[in-house]
This record gives sequence, C-alpha cells and structure tokens, in this order.
Amino acid sequence: MRVVLLGGTSEIGLAILSALRLGADAEVILAGRDPQRLEGAGKSLNRPVTVVRYDAVDTDAHQAFVDEICAGGVPDLIIAATGILIPQERAEQDVRLAATMIETNFTGHVTALLAFGEAMRRRGSGTIVVLSSIAAVRPRKFNSVYGATKAALDAFARGYADSLHGTGVRVLLVRPGFVKGRMTEGMQAAPLATTPEKVGAAVAGALRGQGRGDGKSVIWVPSSLVGLATVMKLIPRPVWRTLKN
Ligand SMILES: NC(=O)c1ccc[n+]([C@@H]2O[C@H](COP(=O)([O-])OP(=O)(O)OC[C@H]3O[C@@H](n4cnc5c(N)ncnc54)[C@H](OP(=O)(O)O)[C@@H]3O)[C@@H](O)[C@H]2O)c1
Repeated sequence: MRVVLLGGTSEIGLAILSALRLGADAEVILAGRDPQRLEGAGKSLNRPVTVVRYDAVDTDAHQAFVDEICAGGVPDLIIAATGILIPQERAEQDVRLAATMIETNFTGHVTALLAFGEAMRRRGSGTIVVLSSIAAVRPRKFNSVYGATKAALDAFARGYADSLHGTGVRVLLVRPGFVKGRMTEGMQAAPLATTPEKVGAAVAGALRGQGRGDGKSVIWVPSSLVGLATVMKLIPRPVWRTLKN
C-alpha cells in the first residue's frame, strides 16, 4: 500500500495515518514544505517514511510532482490535509494573505487532486480523503475567507467524487468541527469541539468500512455535528450576522 499525506506535518493527517495502523510493508510519503519538520513528523509515527517537497501554492509544479510520485507507483491513498487559517482581520489588512489562504486551502488541492485522481482513474482504484470543515456549511463574518475556501473545496470534492463514481476511485469528504490543535491554538473552542485523534479514528473507521462512516462518501466529526449544521443553515441571516461565535 502506498499512502501520500499532502501536508505531511498536519496534526489531523498524522492522526489519520496513526489510526489506520498501516502494515510494515506500507509506504508512507509525507509531502510538505520543510524536510526537517517532515522528518520529525515521520518519527512521531514510529515508522519509516519518505519525505518529499510539496508546496500547495506552487500549482505550476503540481502535475510534475504527481508524475514523479506516480512513477514509483500510483498511490492507493491520498490524504489532502494542507491548510492554513489566517485570522480574518489579518486577511483584511493584507489581502495577499487572503490570496495565499485561497491558494493553499482550495486551488492547490484542486490541481494536486485532479492530477492524482487521473492517475488513479487510469489504474481503476484508489482513495482520496479531503479535509473540509463545518466552516464550509455557512461562512461567518469572522471567517468569510477561510469559510469560503472550505466551501469551495467541499463543492469541488463532491463534484469530483461524482465524476470518479464507478471508476474504482473513492473520495471520502471529511467535515470536522472545531479541532483542538495547532491550527486553532488560542481560539475559544466551539460547541462539539473534537481532537485530531478522534478525527483520525473516524476517518480510519470509514476507510475500513466500520462504524458510522461505513461506505459513506461524507463523514462529520463528531457525527452529531450534522444536526448542528442543519440548525446553522436554518438561522435567518439577520440573526446569523449578530452571533458572536
Ligand atoms: N484544526 C481544525 O479545527 C480543523 C477543522 C476542520 C478542518 N480542518 C482542516 O483540516 C486540515 C488539516 O488541519 P490541521 O488541524 O491538521 O492543521 P495543521 O496541523 O496546521 O496542518 C496544516 C498542514 O498544512 C501544511 N501547509 C500549509 N501551507 C502549505 C503549503 N503552502 N504547502 C504545503 N503544505 C502546507 C502545513 O505544513 P507546514 O508544516 O509547512 O506549515 C501542515 O502540514 C486543513 O485543511 C484544515 O483546514 C481543520
């Protein structure tokens, strides 16, 4: 089995890899910007890993990056976990940061996943895990740029999953709520907050065909988040815009 984690230092991505309990013969490729931190992430997994350079915003290089990986064998599993959360005020003060967030959280996923997906489609098998978010359901005034990137990624993943339907390639769309970790450090936890480990366990269960995510193309973590998402969609906009959190 060949597994690629895009965003090789991602806490959620690494938790998914740990929860998968891959066999010793599985090849794990951690792709990211900083080889030293990727090596460190590999050590935390307690298994040999291959480290490769990958920059989500360097979209011109993505086809060549994917071709190089696929030359050694088309991966069986891609976990797309790159992402940044730049506070809204900073994005408003420096609009280049907003562009970087859009490229990292959306554009770079589209280019890399289309290239991997095409290789998997040709082979007739493979799985792509996409990290969306509860933020995709209804962006708030506090996170309109981040929320829009996740909504766009979520929409792409659903459409692309339909395009790959019947080819042997599966897309698993994961919608976690607030995950306590590096990305959300210093932020007030939202209702139904979860942990990278819980997201990892839910994804591993869905991929193994166990539990609530069995055979599904979308999972929420925690699963009760789907109820909150429904309520969020129903709140009238004049009320929605006054909500503090
Ligand atoms: N944490 C949450 O509350 C939460 C909730 C729902 C969804 N999500 C989503 O889940 C995914 C993983 O989040 P996480 O909590 O695991 O965050 P994380 O630990 O901060 O991981 C983010 C990853 O993205 C990588 N990255 C950022 N910019 C990159 C670039 N230009 N090129 C390559 N890699 C880049 C980071 O690499 P570096 O080490 O180089 O920075 C890191 O590996 C993200 O898509 C996030 O939006 C998170």
